[in-house]
Amino acid sequence: MEFAERAMPVLGLLRERFARDRPLAGLRIAACAHVTPETAALARTLTAGGAVLHVAASNPLSTQDDVAAALVTGDGVAVQARHGVDRAGYAGHLRAVLEARPALLLDDGCDLVQVLHTDRTDLLGGVVAGAEQTSTGVLRLRQMHADGALRLPVVAVNDTPMQLLVANRHGTGQSVLDAVMRATGALLAGTVVVVAGYGWCGSGIAARARGLGAQVVVTEVEPRRALEAVLDGHRVLPMAEAAALGDVFLTTTGNRDVLTSEHFSCMKDGAVLANAGHFDVEVDVVGLADEAVAVHRRVRPQVDAYELADGRRLLLLAEGRLANLAAGEGHPPSVMDISFAVQALTVEWMAGAGLSPGVHAVPPAIDDDVARTKLASLGVRLDRLSPAQARYLSSWRA
Ligand code: ADE
Repeated sequence: MEFAERAMPVLGLLRERFARDRPLAGLRIAACAHVTPETAALARTLTAGGAVLHVAASNPLSTQDDVAAALVTGDGVAVQARHGVDRAGYAGHLRAVLEARPALLLDDGCDLVQVLHTDRTDLLGGVVAGAEQTSTGVLRLRQMHADGALRLPVVAVNDTPMQLLVANRHGTGQSVLDAVMRATGALLAGTVVVVAGYGWCGSGIAARARGLGAQVVVTEVEPRRALEAVLDGHRVLPMAEAAALGDVFLTTTGNRDVLTSEHFSCMKDGAVLANAGHFDVEVDVVGLADEAVAVHRRVRPQVDAYELADGRRLLLLAEGRLANLAAGEGHPPSVMDISFAVQALTVEWMAGAGLSPGVHAVPPAIDDDVARTKLASLGVRLDRLSPAQARYLSSWRA
């Protein structure tokens, strides 16, 4: 945790201010988060500000048990998480953090919001606001709001320009490929990497895969993104055609059934399948198990080999779950410094903002402040507009 904090200077500065001003004194916060050293840095910042914090894991395979234990024993944070816990245990952990009757939520994938709107509607009245960290979670919240079902104000932390650029593009771009390399030990140069989905995450993965010497094939359903991929120099194909070409498949769509039996049937022997989306629905793992005549579990850590009737073996990483966190360590601390600084400042703001139910944007000033502080910590200096330039930009009239 200390090692991670060395690369998290923005959160460190915030922690010093929070410890002085105690802006969160006595506030009960329930968080659903990957239990990593970076999340520990966020937890320590919030508790320095006076928050009473309860944390549940956001994925059973991303939990680092030593971090969970250190937070409990060293920092007074109530953590409900254990690596590899089954689905029932995982759901029990989410329910347990809500027992704390939180005033604020930090969600990662809309899990806490979902439990509150289904099993624990009695607690909704006590929740002032929530913040959502992932693209998938924001998609779900917007859907709930459109259906008239969302009964809380939730702030879309995922959607800030800094989060999209730094966490989604650079964080996912690096950490997913890092996970593939750790898990398989494969050389990516000269391979064909198929990236499903060319959003912020997919485009980041594609750029880094090319940098490692892979040929990138992108699959898309959205024409502007497909065009962006073409103009970025990638080949764009339907997955039905890409399936036979790929050595590594990475799904980043946020949708289900991206890789199915239709694709497994024509993939190369030894093809690697990994998911970078939040939920484990992008690779049809049940369909893959049905097709397989044998499953060789853990041929390496976090790699299962599915043997098909014709002898081909497809290598599934991390059971189709979020590969960068399950087979790697997630985004680097320097990336999470930005995400969690935005998150901590959003918590401070939303506690007193009097928001109404719905999906809200993070105030741009928060994102700006974090970007400036990060640049300063990196020793990067900017130009300033001269008064004449500022007038030129703001004084034009038709
Ligand atoms: N999400 C992505 N990477 C993460 C990390 N290192 N810690 C917590 N949440 C994350």
